Amino acid sequence: MPAHPDHTAWPGQEGLERMTALPHVATLGTEDHASGEELLARLAPGRVFMMGDNPALPPMPARPTLADFFRLRLDPFTARHMLHSARRARDLGLDEPVVLACLLHDIAVGGLLRSHHGHWGAQLVAPYVSEEVAWAVRQHEVLRFFADPSVGYDYPDAYDAFFGPDYAPPAHVRDAYREVRAHRWYMSARLVTINDVYTFQDDDGVDFAEFEDVVGRHFRQPAEGLGFDGSPVAHMWRTMIWPNNFL
Ligand SMILES: [Fe+2]
Ligand SMILES: [Fe+2]
Repeated sequence: MPAHPDHTAWPGQEGLERMTALPHVATLGTEDHASGEELLARLAPGRVFMMGDNPALPPMPARPTLADFFRLRLDPFTARHMLHSARRARDLGLDEPVVLACLLHDIAVGGLLRSHHGHWGAQLVAPYVSEEVAWAVRQHEVLRFFADPSVGYDYPDAYDAFFGPDYAPPAHVRDAYREVRAHRWYMSARLVTINDVYTFQDDDGVDFAEFEDVVGRHFRQPAEGLGFDGSPVAHMWRTMIWPNNFL
């Protein structure tokens, strides 16, 4: 559990050693897990748990935009993966909402949670995009496990390496797939998987600026900034701004 020596970041915690604690959802079942009891035992006079800005992360502006999250918070590898997916969708001449869905599809992996990343990602963006874009982000999570030869989508070779060649999705995922397959927006989610670039590329200068126009037309950026607009998901964006808050 790293302690950060910079004490300047948050009113009321100046001059104190600020400890970070990994969230239990990230550590349960792993060697990194520390129980609540173990964490509290680390408290001492002058040593507290971090609340607010972590000096190990770049500061966010007061009214953060989607671009700020891409540049200052999301894991760079994942951000680049989404930019490459969006670029591929745009190069294929697909509709701008599909390009946007590709740009957003793994946002939860990059900044929030891996498990059920399509669902978390869809919730994050739902107030700001069309219902169909949010649906496509949510359902790509299920569709990527199922081939559709009619549109040239095969089960990803990368998944053999990720999960093992004999991995098979569990029953609840197969059930969800049948519903998605029959949905009128099926192809919107399928296009996300088709453009999900599994050959992860190096940084070739791809930048969020390439998609500012698409985002400007199809993502309702709140004037107060993401995390501060009072929306039902504002807390999720603030969690990415301050991922190390103890509570
Ligand atoms: Fe994904
Ligand atoms: Fe992806």
